[in-house]
Amino acid sequence: MMKGKVAVVTGAAGVICSEVARDLAAGGATVVLVDLVLENAEKVAQSIREKGGNCACYACDVTNKAMVDAMAEKVIEAHGRCDILVNGAGGNSAKAQPKIVEFDPRELEEERPEDIVGIYNVDMDAFEGIVKLNTMGTVYPLLAFAKYMIKQGGGNIINFASMNTYCPLTRNFAYAMAKAGVANFTQAFAAYFAKCGIRINAIAPGFILNPRSQLILGTVEEGLTKRGKDVIDHTPMGKFGSANDICGCVRWLIDDEAAGFVTGITVPVDGGFLTLSGV
Ligand SMILES: NC(=O)c1ccc[n+]([C@@H]2O[C@H](COP(=O)([O-])OP(=O)(O)OC[C@H]3O[C@@H](n4cnc5c(N)ncnc54)[C@H](OP(=O)(O)O)[C@@H]3O)[C@@H](O)[C@H]2O)c1
Repeated sequence: MMKGKVAVVTGAAGVICSEVARDLAAGGATVVLVDLVLENAEKVAQSIREKGGNCACYACDVTNKAMVDAMAEKVIEAHGRCDILVNGAGGNSAKAQPKIVEFDPRELEEERPEDIVGIYNVDMDAFEGIVKLNTMGTVYPLLAFAKYMIKQGGGNIINFASMNTYCPLTRNFAYAMAKAGVANFTQAFAAYFAKCGIRINAIAPGFILNPRSQLILGTVEEGLTKRGKDVIDHTPMGKFGSANDICGCVRWLIDDEAAGFVTGITVPVDGGFLTLSGV
């Protein structure tokens, strides 16, 4: 199904998109792995090559438009085309989050206790960085590669939303507003490029452990934090998802027969998390 296609995956060294990249390569696509640190992408590339897959790696900061445009140009020069773009680079940072879940007057005091880190005490550069990474870090690659997809007569783009897209988790201000934006601009760009044959959709993963979220949620095997237990209790299937759970959804969305009339949607892959109101 993917033989002869070129798939660009950003955040390709990450937990979800390393697996997506391996799956696309196993399906026959040439996969272009893009990440901040080249060595991290190279490790994923090695696992692809060991299984006989085709791939190449590029270091790029997706929040830097000039870098993204230059990377896209190099990719097209080297591989001739881009059929699939998976915008996997994204994430959250503790620096952008308060440590408390509701306003405490002490957060406005000059001499506040150490454990009182409210929204007024958050590092606003980190806050802006998270908004930029999850919004412009998807928009820049989308625009850069759509330019070539228009010339080719079509393509597929997958963005990453989150459970925060629908309702913000506590303390997640920057990440949640950015991921709500992802669902919104996925619709806007899908409509804008529909007649160019480019379908643009998003996936909203439920909770899939990566090294960062593991610190916050714990693991089922080694013990959950309170937040981790809340997540599992709120997930009807009673477990975290795996990166592999996302691969099937990517495969469906980029299949021009199975999903040829589908564009602008955000698909939750969440073990039923969104079916419960929490009450
Ligand atoms: N895991 C989940 O439960 C979950 C749930 C909902 C949504 N999502 C979303 O799904 C996507 C993939 O998540 P994941 O769990 O696989 O995340 P991950 O393991 O943290 O992978 C993200 C990758 O993107 C890279 N990256 C970060 N900033 C970048 C930049 N400016 N330019 C290029 N690459 C950059 C990271 O590099 P460094 O590690 O070097 O920073 C990392 O390799 C993200 O958009 C995430 O927000 C994940």
